[in-house]
Amino acid sequence: MISIIKSVAEWKELRNSESLKNKTIGFVPTMGALHEGHLSLIEKSKNENEITVVSIFVNPTQFNDPKDLEKYPRTYEDDLQKLNRTKTDYLFYPSHNELYADKFRYEINEKEFSQILCGAHRPGHFTGVLTIVMKLLNIVKADKAYFGEKDYQQYLLIKGMVDTFFMDTKIVPCPIVREKDGLAMSSRNMLLSKQERILAPKFFEILSKEKNNEEIIAKLAYSGFKVDYVDEVENRRYAAVYLGNVRLIDNVKI
Ligand code: PAF
Repeated sequence: MISIIKSVAEWKELRNSESLKNKTIGFVPTMGALHEGHLSLIEKSKNENEITVVSIFVNPTQFNDPKDLEKYPRTYEDDLQKLNRTKTDYLFYPSHNELYADKFRYEINEKEFSQILCGAHRPGHFTGVLTIVMKLLNIVKADKAYFGEKDYQQYLLIKGMVDTFFMDTKIVPCPIVREKDGLAMSSRNMLLSKQERILAPKFFEILSKEKNNEEIIAKLAYSGFKVDYVDEVENRRYAAVYLGNVRLIDNVKI
């Protein structure tokens, strides 16, 4: 059975105890609603470390839209079953007060790459992400932390933060896990209606097949997506679309 740790002080004591102090630790930070993508990060962590820690914390400061935060899927019991099935060692499951005792007076800002792509369309999003990831990495003190490449901009910003602030945890990118029909796995997929779910794989199909942004935008719009953006940065094409109220993101190497 997985051990559930809710307090920072409790984890710190355990981390410095004889049982963990000399063990290699892999860390998978999540906001819960675990799917095969998360499970692939856990599996990689288990293969590369003696101990694996997963955190579940729906981080309010990275949601620019309060309605989005409210409807974000929360599936704690199901998550716990999955974590037990994967034989994850520890779940770090802190409260809001535990992590934001400062009431978000302190934050981590990146001034360039966080301002484009998703950052331009979700003001403050990456400040929330970087701040919470800095806190989690400082608490868990893992050897390695695992992030999915579906959120490629997030991965690059976190890697940049860790390098910039000389943090000790190695950031490990992990390939996107896709449904059989090509849709990138995401906790938000469970919010799609039946009709939207049928249409959703067209997003990756169009993004990976077409060669220029204008054509991609036109085809996505014609297929029924509301396009947030499609853009290229350093040999990678990033895109975000809406199906109803559900925002999907994806990226491909070009
Ligand atoms: O990718 C996510 O699930 C979140 O952005 C993260 C990294 C857990 C921070 O809240």
